[in-house]
Amino acid sequence: MARVLVVGGGIAGLWTAVRAAGAGHEVEVVTKTELVDGSTRHAQGGIAAALFPGDSVDRHLADTLAAGAGLCDPAAVRVLCEEGPARVRDLIRFGVAFDRGESGLERGLEAAHSRARILHAGGDSTGAAIEAALVATVRNRAVGVQEHTMLLDLVIEAGRVVGARLLAPSGPVEMPADAVVLATGGSGCLYRHTTNPDVATGDGVAAAWRAGAAVADLEFIQFHPTALAAPGTPLISEAVRGEGAVLVDERGERFMLEVDARAELAPRDIVARAVWRRMAEQGGRPVRLDATALGADFLSERFPTLDAACRAAGYDWSSAPVPITPAAHYAMGGVVTDLDGRTTLPGLFAVGEAARTGVHGANRLASNSLLEAAVFADRAARALGDPVRSSSGAAAVDAHRDVGSVLEHRSTDLDTRPALPGATRPPNVSFVDRGELQTLMWEHAGLERSAEGLAAASDRLAGWRAPAVVDRRNAEDRNLLDLARLTVAAAIARRSSVGAHYRIDDPHDAVTRPLGPSAVTTPALEEAA
Ligand code: SIN
Repeated sequence: MARVLVVGGGIAGLWTAVRAAGAGHEVEVVTKTELVDGSTRHAQGGIAAALFPGDSVDRHLADTLAAGAGLCDPAAVRVLCEEGPARVRDLIRFGVAFDRGESGLERGLEAAHSRARILHAGGDSTGAAIEAALVATVRNRAVGVQEHTMLLDLVIEAGRVVGARLLAPSGPVEMPADAVVLATGGSGCLYRHTTNPDVATGDGVAAAWRAGAAVADLEFIQFHPTALAAPGTPLISEAVRGEGAVLVDERGERFMLEVDARAELAPRDIVARAVWRRMAEQGGRPVRLDATALGADFLSERFPTLDAACRAAGYDWSSAPVPITPAAHYAMGGVVTDLDGRTTLPGLFAVGEAARTGVHGANRLASNSLLEAAVFADRAARALGDPVRSSSGAAAVDAHRDVGSVLEHRSTDLDTRPALPGATRPPNVSFVDRGELQTLMWEHAGLERSAEGLAAASDRLAGWRAPAVVDRRNAEDRNLLDLARLTVAAAIARRSSVGAHYRIDDPHDAVTRPLGPSAVTTPALEEAA
């Protein structure tokens, strides 16, 4: 049996921990704040699965592939859609009480789904219900939990991961492990406006990259079209549009109909860009989400969390449209894995938003993220006894090279690792300022990108260096700087618009156009070497 270190306390990490402990492994979960503080508990919309009459695995698969704009890995999507229903039933066994009506489980509709197939709990607090059930399950199992303990770096010996360096409350410590599972979530904090909590600083992806694991598709950042334009930009779930709310500009005119026949339920990248553009046309002021037709009773019953968030920000959304803006929401890219969560580094697994399994392509289908976490964490837990299948790493990278961008380097020596493109340090470097980095990324590597803007971002990033790591904030800033450079490098290399990556210098909306081999890019560190 293996000593397994799971980094992260959201659905992906806790699922892996529960299953690994059940298989007899010795499991320790570390999380940099408290178990419940990750992104999972903020997930509102729900979890998608082909569970209902009139739906099928093939329909869910087709919707996922279409949203992914030709860049999904079809084998991974098949696994997701086929195994999804069983994982949802597992959640019910873990104690998640999905909402039920008179005829059984209720199901919602969200953008780009051809069927209503989204299960939800507590109306709009699905993530919180899942997190609570998994935390309770973990607390009842033989799983060690260390809170306020942050991943700094992976420890490598003879080319394989043998543990991790952590920042514990008592200071830096090294924890040995036969397998390390990264379940560290996303990197929304790269951007000035995000729906993510402030723990989402991409720690696992940055550490994996520094250790030499391949990462891919970092240019594909999903911007959610409807965050409340109020401090903290809280998410207003797509499910609200699924129930019939519409987007209007400041003159009260509905604008999505002229953009896409699917209007407010077009794929998320299309709606987000349309909101962004309409905001630009009206001097940067927010557009509005009009949910008034749904009525006060329905809104407070179906969306209690959102109802409270709107009221806390001073809005009564049942009587007037509320101001909204796009915000960074989800990282489609991450650490490249095979179908069992194995990365290109023996001994290292990645699950959940930190992983690049291939299911999301260039644009994730709504409510597939909780599902991906459950499905692939389950598979990773089963593969833990076999963490060094030597062919898997190379095979995973080759598979992903066909459909996405892959960034690799092989150095494990942080001081001598090759510079990223654009990261040759000018003489006058200064320490990175998180606020400035977030503004830079928002303006130049956000919803719309250009060669010029990305080059400017790359130059600015090259002028910053990471602080010495003495506390959590420094460690996060180092990770954000590494990820910003990687994201900008990947966005520079992908010259065509596709999915969530939109280049105004290649302005056609290539939503369903697969990229051919000539467009496959390796924003190579080799280029800079
Ligand atoms: C939402 O509820 O709109 C977000 C769901 C998701 O990101 O999948």
